[in-house]
Amino acid sequence: MRAEERHANLVEIIRTHDEAYYVHARPTISDQEYDRLYHELLELETAYPHLITPDSPSQRVGGTPLKAFVPVRHLAPMRSLDNSYSETDVREFVQRLQRLLAGEQLEFLVEPKVDGVAVNLRYENGFLVSGATRGDGITGDDITENLKTIRSIPVRLRGTQEPLPKVLEVRGEVFLHKDGFKKLNEQRISQGEEPFANPRNAAAGSLKQLDPKLVSKRPLGAILYGIGFCEFNGNSNPFSRHDSSLQWLAAAGFRTPEKLWHCRTIDELLSAIRELDALRDSFSYETDGAVIKLNSAAQREKAGYTSKAPRWAMAYKYAAEQAETRLRAITIQVGRTGALTPVAELEPVFLAGSTISRATLHNEDELRRKDIRIGDTVTIEKAGEVIPAVVGVVLTKRNGTERVFEFPRHCPECNQPVIKTSGSANGAGGSVWRCVNPLCPAQVQGRIEHWCARGAMDIEGGGEVLVRQLIQAGLVKDVADLYSLTLEQVSGLERMGTRSAQNFLNGVEESKKRELWRILFGLGILHVGAGVAKTLANRFHSIDRIASASETELTETEDVGEVIAQSVCSWFQQPQNRTLIERLRQAGLAFQSSETPPAAAGKLLGKTFVLTGTLPQLSREEATALIEAAGGKVTGSVSKKTSYVVAGEEAGSKLEKAHSLGIPVLDEQALRKLLVD
Ligand code: IVH
Repeated sequence: MRAEERHANLVEIIRTHDEAYYVHARPTISDQEYDRLYHELLELETAYPHLITPDSPSQRVGGTPLKAFVPVRHLAPMRSLDNSYSETDVREFVQRLQRLLAGEQLEFLVEPKVDGVAVNLRYENGFLVSGATRGDGITGDDITENLKTIRSIPVRLRGTQEPLPKVLEVRGEVFLHKDGFKKLNEQRISQGEEPFANPRNAAAGSLKQLDPKLVSKRPLGAILYGIGFCEFNGNSNPFSRHDSSLQWLAAAGFRTPEKLWHCRTIDELLSAIRELDALRDSFSYETDGAVIKLNSAAQREKAGYTSKAPRWAMAYKYAAEQAETRLRAITIQVGRTGALTPVAELEPVFLAGSTISRATLHNEDELRRKDIRIGDTVTIEKAGEVIPAVVGVVLTKRNGTERVFEFPRHCPECNQPVIKTSGSANGAGGSVWRCVNPLCPAQVQGRIEHWCARGAMDIEGGGEVLVRQLIQAGLVKDVADLYSLTLEQVSGLERMGTRSAQNFLNGVEESKKRELWRILFGLGILHVGAGVAKTLANRFHSIDRIASASETELTETEDVGEVIAQSVCSWFQQPQNRTLIERLRQAGLAFQSSETPPAAAGKLLGKTFVLTGTLPQLSREEATALIEAAGGKVTGSVSKKTSYVVAGEEAGSKLEKAHSLGIPVLDEQALRKLLVD
């Protein structure tokens, strides 16, 4: 047999075995036999590198680690689902649809709600070309190389699916197998690393790795539950029913939901939800609910969307598991903003798959409201493997020996007096005791960790353990100190190799180029989250302008109320913070964001669009974002200069004007086509 032929043969054989094992959990050959085939393939590719094809199994694990993830726009928005927790919610959901689709027979599907990380896979002419996280629903991170390492994700669609869609976006959930999660955590603990809190975090953490080789070692799987976008022979939606699209996906080589229920009545839905609840423990991955979806595509289109979620689907969340245990003590944790959080130290109890010995008690008000006393028997709850919480006291078990907890008036970390502040920017969440000593060691640690976090300055390796070591070694006291660290200092820390030290320092160096909003968020100013940081950066463009803005000027910014404005002003008024900014400036941080956005590029460069009416799927913001991402501009009024008018339902005078000026009018489908072609 010629090398080409054998290569093609091996690719197909391995693909078939991968599908049998990873998609259907039914291995068809022994591990040794599989390894033999795989090695034969590698040998062949070493001898004849020109034979390597993008869909070869050898190409699943990419070569060089990435420096950062690149943003990628989804062709259709990735929305979320409305949650429900009771049978009443299910009834209301069905009744709402019955009203919306009066006189129509409704058929629903019930699927497991996989508790993982939402992903979007794009295939062009049958080949996986990109894979992304959900991100903000419009733009996610390009994690193609990481997703390719997951063997239940086909890198090429099965050829039986002729003709193949020109473009296809498949939506699903990446998860970490339950047993793999346990092993992974054991391994991490033995290597002195922090264990993951739950399989979902572990899956998310895995997909965030920049080195696909590391990702390939994580026991990840993927279940695909829907099609987000499809262009098939010029037809944008070839599936008239959800169940047929799932069948198509399964035939194309995807792992699809384990079990489906077809239901026509509320009672059928409720019993499907109960059946799934009884079954889901036996699944190899975590589930946190049931998803109910209308089956008919035509009915989905009629039902439409709210601003966040489809009206044709909902997630039914299973109640969190509860347990009773004794509250042995209450300790206080000090966070990066100085907030004192009471923590319940519990008699260890097994709950929802793990042993719990601590749970948050949120704040003093919550303690008082629930009248939680040391020695009480308390009910704790854990929903979907999230952090456990104390829901209440079992009063019948009180015996008079319980003690009321006296909230400390001094910080347990630095012994300075604490002050009472309102809990959050909107005043909700009860009041919080805070340590206001900027040198408090717990806050210093928290602030530096926050600065390094992925959502802020994204400094690889700057986690809890390294930050603690740096502080203990006296090398850093604040975030500016990170920028004068040397390789010798970092590699001299315990259990720190030269390579890891260099990687960390490279990360620190890279972070000097971060955008203004990340710096602003990273500084950890009270109430300034990533969203507020972005709006401030967009409005003021430089840290100096923000620093000198008055409270009134700040409140003129969208989403910035008085509490936030006060917090920003008082942060910049403090001399030690001004000094910090100056030191960061000296270190070379860019404190500016560009006034005018960088010159756009893309297919729609130079084209001007006007949107009118309601589009079937895209909101106005989403359509604008997609057009702008492709280099186009969106304006409010139609003129001779307008390139296209995008019209949806109830389009009014703008559409008429477009017709009178002879400007091409697009519907949503034509717009999407323009974006793809
Ligand atoms: S359908 C238009 N089906 O749950 C929204 N979602 O809480 C389509 N999820 O964002 C989503 N299993 O990440 C759907 N069988 C399933 C699912 C599922 C898990 C996730 C998904 C979604 C989130 C909403």
